[in-house]
Amino acid sequence: MKNNLLNALSVALFATAGLYSAHLLAAGNPAAAGNGDTNITEEQFLKVAKESFPWATPEEFDERVKNDVTLAICNKTNGQPNAAETDVILKFEKSRMEYPKDGKLYGDWKKGQEWAEGAHGGRIGFADADDPAHPNGANCYACHAIDPNFPGAGNMGPSLTNYGKLRGQSEPMIKYTYEKIYDSKALVPCSLMPRYGGKGHLLTAEQVADITAFLLDPASPVNLPAKEAAK
Ligand code: HEC
Repeated sequence: MKNNLLNALSVALFATAGLYSAHLLAAGNPAAAGNGDTNITEEQFLKVAKESFPWATPEEFDERVKNDVTLAICNKTNGQPNAAETDVILKFEKSRMEYPKDGKLYGDWKKGQEWAEGAHGGRIGFADADDPAHPNGANCYACHAIDPNFPGAGNMGPSLTNYGKLRGQSEPMIKYTYEKIYDSKALVPCSLMPRYGGKGHLLTAEQVADITAFLLDPASPVNLPAKEAAK
């Protein structure tokens, strides 16, 4: 239980509301605990979690743990929705998909590199608030290897190194990549990857287009051999 709790809290530092509440409820769910400690109730968990974010206002905290229809189903089914529930999720997620106003799903890869690496924004419960003038980052490296020169990466998600080199830059591939980043759950219901686009989430549609280019562009370091370490 302790590990689950720490996991939920550390994930909350960068995650969108959805990911936090998914982990939160998974941690209070006997089926998800998996270590024999099945006695923690949701109420007990919320109490501990609240105490861990002493600077968060009640509104900020409630916003984070609120479930939308997708998270309610994913929590109830432990991430295994049946066919009817999958339909409900996909319908809801596709309805929240949006694209940049200029219609370009392929932005500026150099900016995308910055957004993918960045971890600014989305915090609650800190004495020093996020700077609203600073664009949010996505912290993709928490879960994915991407640019081989980047020092360190998590492995909850698959490696994205050479993503564009392996898959090419066709229109359907651009659209798939954009949509995956904007709303991972529109493609994989109950995906553990955060939904980055949309109100209350971290990134603008333009930022998602920039990260799409960062993954796909032949000139991006993602698709080039790793540089030799500086001597
Ligand atoms: C909390 C962990 C987490 C974070 C953060 C995260 N992802 Fe993921 N991502 C995953 C997981 C898990 C999968 C595999 C399951 C799935 O497809 O939903 C995945 C899948 C993907 C895929 C599909 C890979 C394929 O083979 O088609 C892409 C593309 C992707 N992520 C890009 C990103 C980018 C770009 C970011 C940052 C904007 C990001 N991810 C942030 C966990 C994460």
